[in-house]
Amino acid sequence: MVPKNLVILGSTGSIGRSCLEVIADRPGRFAVRALAAHSNAELLAEQYRALRPPYLCLVDDSRVGELRQLLKGEPVEIVSGEDELVRLATLDAVDMVVNAVVGAAGLRASLETVRMGRMLALANKESLVCGGPLFPPLIQETGARILPIDSEHSAIWQLLACGRESELKRIVITASGGPFRDLPTEKFSEITVKQALEHPTWKMGPKITIDSATLVNKGLEVIEAVVLFSVPADKISVVIHPQSVIHSMVEFIDSSVVAQLSMPDMKLPIVHALFWPERVRSDYGAVDFERLPTMTFDKPDLNRFRALRIAYEVAARGGTAPAIYNAANEVAVKAFLESGIKFPEITDIIENSVDKLNVVSSPGLDDILEADRKARETARELMGKLRCC
Ligand SMILES: NC(=O)c1ccc[n+]([C@@H]2O[C@H](COP(=O)([O-])OP(=O)(O)OC[C@H]3O[C@@H](n4cnc5c(N)ncnc54)[C@H](OP(=O)(O)O)[C@@H]3O)[C@@H](O)[C@H]2O)c1
Repeated sequence: MVPKNLVILGSTGSIGRSCLEVIADRPGRFAVRALAAHSNAELLAEQYRALRPPYLCLVDDSRVGELRQLLKGEPVEIVSGEDELVRLATLDAVDMVVNAVVGAAGLRASLETVRMGRMLALANKESLVCGGPLFPPLIQETGARILPIDSEHSAIWQLLACGRESELKRIVITASGGPFRDLPTEKFSEITVKQALEHPTWKMGPKITIDSATLVNKGLEVIEAVVLFSVPADKISVVIHPQSVIHSMVEFIDSSVVAQLSMPDMKLPIVHALFWPERVRSDYGAVDFERLPTMTFDKPDLNRFRALRIAYEVAARGGTAPAIYNAANEVAVKAFLESGIKFPEITDIIENSVDKLNVVSSPGLDDILEADRKARETARELMGKLRCC
């Protein structure tokens, strides 16, 4: 069997590392052409030694010297900078690009992959959130495929195959509800970084873990689903399901609901995307029904978790509104993680940034990048005001 040639962006992160484990479990099925990270030179060098790809990219140029030193004499081309990350998507003889970068920093590489007409295994949901209007026409033109690596979207992708587009009533995205789903709002300002990083069911990178605690992650997922499945936001519901066993559901017009289940394990959506269109044997997330926890379902409280309500509003508005939401959130989450702001202020900053900035309704890439830049600037200004009062 001819191995599939992969480029893996964000290989040192939680999804990137799980992806490399899946590849290691399947010798001979994949050849890695390039790996990329932001600044973790040590882990990237270790990953190089295991896989020996011809290209490596470390986006942060201040750390690339360290990587070159670690791999002195090795037959590998080492590049750095944001443009080089994007260029990896255009390398010769690549079948699939896995984008597991965190944040809007992954957008241009996703677009380039789609522009090349390649398969994009996408964990970087921020690409679709920010660049939503750009992807559908490009996909139409090049025939590229986006294969989601998000447990919810992987579930929806599989479930939609159970009926025709005209037979869809709604998509139901499940949410664990995060660690604070039962905490009274008055206590939100006492939440520490350590508490917010303790996700009840998933082990993930810090940004998405905080996003799960504010329900921004669910908001980003609703917007991602709008783009990925061409379904309006009002046909997408969110239901709180703390056990994270059902990853999403699809309801058809006859009121039949189909669901996809597994124990929480990101290697399952990863294996599904990497091998698509083939389904291969795997035990990742296998369900033992006799040991399943009781499954419960609840309505999300949009007054306590306003970020989800705002996400629905920006999804309906479209254009650059989701890019503004995303950028303000990225700035606010970073500040929270560095103890610069309080937990509820993340949502305040998103809300104020979205309210303050103009939305371009049919944007090109430059409009989106400009909206992202302005939203970051606005979010920083708002944080400055919070600190001086
Ligand atoms: N983790 C999950 O279970 C999960 C589930 C569903 C979806 N996702 C999505 O997958 C993406 C990655 O999440 P994660 O949890 O794996 O994040 P993570 O653990 O923080 O890893 C992020 C990866 O991106 C790299 N990176 C960070 N900033 C970058 C930049 N400016 N340019 C290029 N690379 C950069 C990091 O490199 P360094 O290590 O060098 O910093 C690292 O390799 C996110 O979009 C997230 O929403 C994650």
